[in-house]
Amino acid sequence: MAAGQNKGYGSDVNIASTKIICLSFAVLAGISGVLLVSQERPAEAAGEMNCGCHPNKADKSFTHKPVKDGECSSCHKPSDQKHPKVKKGAFLLTDNGKVGLCNECHERKDIKKYVHGPVASGDCLDCHDVHQSDNKFQLKASGVALCYMCHDKTKLGRKFPHPPITEGKCLDCHDPHQSDNKYILKAEGSALCIMCHNKSMFSGKSIHGPVSTGECSACHVTHGTQYPHLLKHSFPEDFYTSFSKAQFDLCFKCHSASLADDQRTGAATNFRNGMFNLHFLHVNKADKGRSCKVCHDPHASSQPKLISSKVSGFGRWRIPIRYTKNDVGGTCVVGCHKPKSYNRIDPVVNP
Ligand code: HEC
Ligand code: HEC
Ligand code: HEC
Ligand code: HEC
Ligand code: HEC
Ligand code: HEC
Ligand code: HEC
Ligand code: HEC
Ligand code: HEC
Repeated sequence: MAAGQNKGYGSDVNIASTKIICLSFAVLAGISGVLLVSQERPAEAAGEMNCGCHPNKADKSFTHKPVKDGECSSCHKPSDQKHPKVKKGAFLLTDNGKVGLCNECHERKDIKKYVHGPVASGDCLDCHDVHQSDNKFQLKASGVALCYMCHDKTKLGRKFPHPPITEGKCLDCHDPHQSDNKYILKAEGSALCIMCHNKSMFSGKSIHGPVSTGECSACHVTHGTQYPHLLKHSFPEDFYTSFSKAQFDLCFKCHSASLADDQRTGAATNFRNGMFNLHFLHVNKADKGRSCKVCHDPHASSQPKLISSKVSGFGRWRIPIRYTKNDVGGTCVVGCHKPKSYNRIDPVVNP
């Protein structure tokens, strides 16, 4: 039978008659105590409820519906061999026991753009027991143990893993069979992330370039990395640090380090008073240089230029910051301090 051609559930097998023959056989066996193995009968006789010989195929918590219903013959068709004299080969599968068999009753699981390896090769039974199992969906293992039957756990181990990975919730993000998204993901780009993370974190008056285009993966690796917060490259954990370009590698992958490196500049940054680079002033210190996140939110902000509405770095207090920007500079009011301004054209004295 061609894959995908649905013949319908149990349609062309005569379930009722095999049922009667087999049941009466079992009853007979019960009364007379005759060993079934010594009997010779046509293979057709065996169709129902293991016929007293086979280990019960329907005694575990999760049993495949047609098995539970005793419809063995919807998958096993008798050959002309005598059973049980002939054991191997007396029953043939109505299909090769691979995906074709499943497709007789189920919607196809291998037709989307990205298909999981074992599904693509038709090996449904790598993960499912066709008769029964102690796990839901007759799975061969439960939860993440199923995935680790084939995937190397150590490969997914990260110094700072994403909590849903540690909790083994692979299927919160991946479909086990197929998807139209790469890596058989349940959603694409930032849509995947906002299934769990609050969308409001990523909206505001200013939105960071890669965030607005949904490229969370420009900065984060979803399974985790050797850096905190699933970051792709190095970025300081603390608010104050001894400045080095390498520490801010994450930002300097896209922005030129000269924005914090050149003490005097007419172009490297707009955060300058005349030629004096205020990024340099705040960030570039051997002792207690500020991290970018003291002023900038890496995602989005209600103020221009990703300036956070609260400054971090003063212990648990987050002091409100009000930032206004104009064509030639800007002004910051931090907490109850005096406003501080900068002007690129006409430098402010003691900014
Ligand atoms: C949905 C299809 C399907 C149904 C229904 C089904 N089987 Fe099977 N059965 C299979 C497949 C496929 C295999 C081969 C399993 C494998 O290769 O792992 C198999 C293998 C077997 C085997 C040999 C291996 C083993 O697991 O012991 C026996 C015996 C068997 N089935 C008995 C039964 C009986 C009895 C019933 C009814 C209670 C039944 N089957 C119902 C698909 C089915
Ligand atoms: C003869 C028809 C038939 C065949 C062949 C068949 N199934 Fe099923 N399967 C069913 C029916 C009926 C259900 C119950 C559907 C429901 O409850 O919605 C079911 C349910 C399932 C379930 C879900 C169990 C659950 O707990 O919800 C899985 C998994 C499954 N089948 C896997 C397979 C695999 C793998 C194959 C091929 C080896 C296969 N089936 C072949 C009829 C079949
Ligand atoms: C890599 C392991 C794996 C393989 C291979 C696999 N499945 Fe599944 N399947 C699962 C898991 C896990 C679930 C449970 C999904 C969930 O929890 O939502 C499932 C659920 C199902 C279900 C019930 C829910 C549904 O999506 O309809 C059916 C039916 C099913 N599989 C059929 C198949 C068929 C048919 C094949 C082969 C084409 C197959 N599976 C191959 C892992 C697998
Ligand atoms: C029976 C073995 C088997 C099991 C069980 C299994 N996988 Fe896979 N998986 C594979 C194979 C084979 C590939 C393809 C590998 C390749 O192309 O390098 C694959 C690839 C993948 C991919 C990458 C797909 C892509 O498009 O690159 C993801 C994601 C994945 N598996 C997730 C899972 C999850 C989640 C589970 C548990 C629900 C799981 N796998 C269980 C065998 C398995
Ligand atoms: C929070 C969502 C999420 C969870 C949970 C998740 N993944 Fe992934 N996974 C992804 C994304 C996104 C990718 C695409 C590659 C990337 O961004 O690193 C991926 C890629 C993969 C790949 C293919 C690439 C590779 O790294 O080999 C495999 C295999 C995989 N995941 C397996 C798993 C397994 C197994 C689990 C459970 C332990 C799991 N994933 C949990 C989101 C997730
Ligand atoms: C299935 C739910 C789920 C999905 C989907 C998800 N996350 Fe998470 N993520 C969590 C949970 C739970 C935490 C831990 C609690 C928290 O920090 O909110 C977390 C934490 C994080 C953290 C902070 C880690 C730390 O150590 O500070 C980052 C960064 C993160 N997620 C990024 C992402 C990105 C990027 C995506 C999309 C590719 C994503 N998440 C998708 C559930 C999810
Ligand atoms: C330009 C780089 C960058 C991009 C793009 C980015 N992030 Fe982040 N993200 C960071 C940095 C840096 C941190 C750590 C901030 C800190 O140390 O407090 C972070 C922290 C997080 C956290 C945990 C901290 C928190 O505030 O709860 C989550 C969750 C998160 N990001 C999700 C996302 C999602 C979802 C996207 C895509 C919509 C995304 N990020 C895009 C740089 C980025
Ligand atoms: C993947 C590339 C990428 C990374 C990594 C990156 N940025 Fe950006 N950033 C951009 C793009 C694109 C823009 C928009 C540029 C433009 O509009 O000219 C931008 C703009 C900005 C702006 C100006 C926002 C505005 O509203 O004009 C600030 C501030 C900023 N980034 C800070 C950071 C910080 C801090 C880091 C490190 C945590 C960082 N960026 C990492 C790509 C990146
Ligand atoms: C003391 C607060 C403060 C700190 C710390 C800070 N910035 Fe800024 N940054 C600003 C202000 C204010 C602007 C807006 C300048 C303007 O447009 O007038 C700005 C602008 C930017 C821009 C836009 C382009 C430019 O230079 O004008 C980028 C990119 C940027 N910052 C990156 C960073 C990075 C990367 C770090 C950490 C290495 C950092 N900032 C640390 C306050 C800060």
